[in-house]
Formats: sequence, structure tokens, C-alpha cells
Amino acid sequence: MTEQVSTYIPEQVSEVEALAKSAFDQVKTPEDLQSFRIEFLGKKGMITYLLKGLGQLPPEARREAGIRINLLRQEVEDLITLKESSLGREAEARRLEAEVIDVTLPGKGTPLGSRHPVNLVILEIKKIFVSLGFEVWEGPEIETDYYNFEALNIGRDHPARDTQDSFYITPDILLRTHTSPVQIRCMEIKAPEVPLRMVAVGKTYRRDNDATHSPMFHQVEGLVVDRGTSLAELKGTLLAFARRMFGSETRIRLRPSHFPFTEPSAEVDVSCPICGGGGCGVCKQSGWLEILGAGMVHPNVLRAGGYDPEAVNGFAFGMGVERIAMQRYAIDNMRLLFENDLRFLGQFR
Ligand code: PHE
Repeated sequence: MTEQVSTYIPEQVSEVEALAKSAFDQVKTPEDLQSFRIEFLGKKGMITYLLKGLGQLPPEARREAGIRINLLRQEVEDLITLKESSLGREAEARRLEAEVIDVTLPGKGTPLGSRHPVNLVILEIKKIFVSLGFEVWEGPEIETDYYNFEALNIGRDHPARDTQDSFYITPDILLRTHTSPVQIRCMEIKAPEVPLRMVAVGKTYRRDNDATHSPMFHQVEGLVVDRGTSLAELKGTLLAFARRMFGSETRIRLRPSHFPFTEPSAEVDVSCPICGGGGCGVCKQSGWLEILGAGMVHPNVLRAGGYDPEAVNGFAFGMGVERIAMQRYAIDNMRLLFENDLRFLGQFR
């Protein structure tokens, strides 16, 4: 009996060894490797089975068979470890290959936006006035009657209120009809400091809607308060602005006008930047374009702002940004500026 077993075991070891080798050659995937491990080293695996059989051997044979089986087990374990890392490397290589990115392919590209022509003009206007020493101020779009009218010398019954047909929220609160209320807000903070030089840019609202009027539009307001400033300084400032904005050959002209908050007041025209003053479609053959209102600040307005009209004076001006953008870019209908048609907007960079 013992004889039998002692010869039987070494044979079985050789057999299992051969089986392990050929089975190992078939291992191609991590799953194969797992089955292989179970087949030979698992609880019911062949090598485990051999080890269990050792107990039945006579002591002399047990030692040698034990050494052989353990060697085989070691060998199979080493094969498994090696295979594990080579399968891992292969998987990694496959993954890298699958995920390869061709950096030379054209990108998906998000279309770049462009600045709105009104904003382009606003930026340019601000730049010009900042370079002339003006500060940029802001004020609320929802204003009180006091700042929008009263403090600007436009009394309750003043006809100027009608010409600015307004959006009222309550009898005392409205969407501002011009940027002039920012003059008062700025003076209230600055007075009695001089010189005060400010521009305010922003949205304004009136009940108009046609090819050259929009219910919402933008204005640029300018105000200077100083000791002994003059109409000549106003004119010089506006000429410097017009030349930077429309070209160095530009001329301006002041026509007497009326605003409750300035005295004297003027409408200011620039020589038509399209025809240079000769007359064309854009300037309706007049050679001039009306771009702004201006004047010397009324003493009542200075007083409302906290300045002493006996000690200081000032000049102010206000212009419509859409009008300037339309001239600038030869746009014939103001609505184009608000329709947000990308074919139109994409032309301005
Ligand atoms: N606020 C005036 C308007 O909207 C423009 C203006 C501003 C005129 C400042 C004179 C001085 O028509």
C-alpha cells in the first residue's frame, strides 16, 4: 500500500506540472488567470489535492514528495505573479491606445462673441473723456422725480416734462428720461470740491419708438464745475471730443437752444463725418449732424448740487449714444441695435 502511494505521488506531480504548463499557455485574460489559479491552487485545486495526499505517504517518501510539490506550487505562484503584471501592462497599453487623443484634429470651437456697437461707442467715448481728465460716474436708472426733474430746474408744470413723456412707477418714481440726474448725485457727493469733471454713461427711457427713437437708449452726460469755467472751455472740450471721435478734420457748431438746467444752452452739431460737410444722405444734405445738447449749468442746478453759484460755475453736455453709433457704422435703423440679430452684431469686432 505504502509502496503504491510513494510511486503514485511523484507521477502525479509530474502530471500536474505538465497540466499546469499547458493550461498556463492558454491564459490570455485576467479571467483565464483567475480560473487557472483556482484550478491549481484553489481549495479543491490539483496542487492542494497533492499536498493533502502527503499525509498518507510513509515519512521517507513524504519529505521528498513535499519538496517537489512545494516547488511546483512556488513555480505556479511565480507564473501567476508574472502573468498578472504582464496582463496589467497589456491592459494599460490597450487603454492608452484606445484613449489616444489626436491633438492635430480641428477643435470643436465655441464661436467668440463680439462687442455690441453701442458698447464699442461707449468704451470709446469713456476713453476720450478719461484722457481729458474726466471721472466716470454711474447713477440709478430708476429715479425720483426730484433728481430727474426738480433738482434740474424742471418744475412741476414745466413743458419739458411733456417732451420727455416718461415711464412712471409711482407719481414720484420713474425710469430716468436722461442721464442729467447723475449731475446732481455727483455734485451732492463732491461739493464744494472743484474742479469736478465727470461723465456718466447709461440707459435712459422715453415713450418714443420709431426708426430713429427707441424707448430705451443710452446717453453720455458730462459735467464740469470749476471756478471761472466758460462757454469757450465747453466748446473746446466738445471740439476735442468730436475730433477724437469723428476724425481730426471735424468741425462743430453751436446753435442757441433751451434746456431748463443750462443757461445759455446750445444744440451742438458736428460736420458730417461721411461727406465732410458737403452734404449727403446721412446728414440730409445739410453737412451737419446734431449729436448733443449742452450749456452753462443753471445757478439753480449748482445750488441743488450743493455748490455756491456765486463762487463757481460749470458746463454740461448730454449726447445720445445710439445716434453716434448709427453715424459711426452707417446704420440706418435704430431697431437693428436692439434686435440682437447675430448676422448684424457679428460685423462689429
Ligand atoms: N439732458 C438733456 C437731454 O436729454 C441733454 C443735456 C444734457 C443738455 C446736459 C444740456 C446739458 O436732452
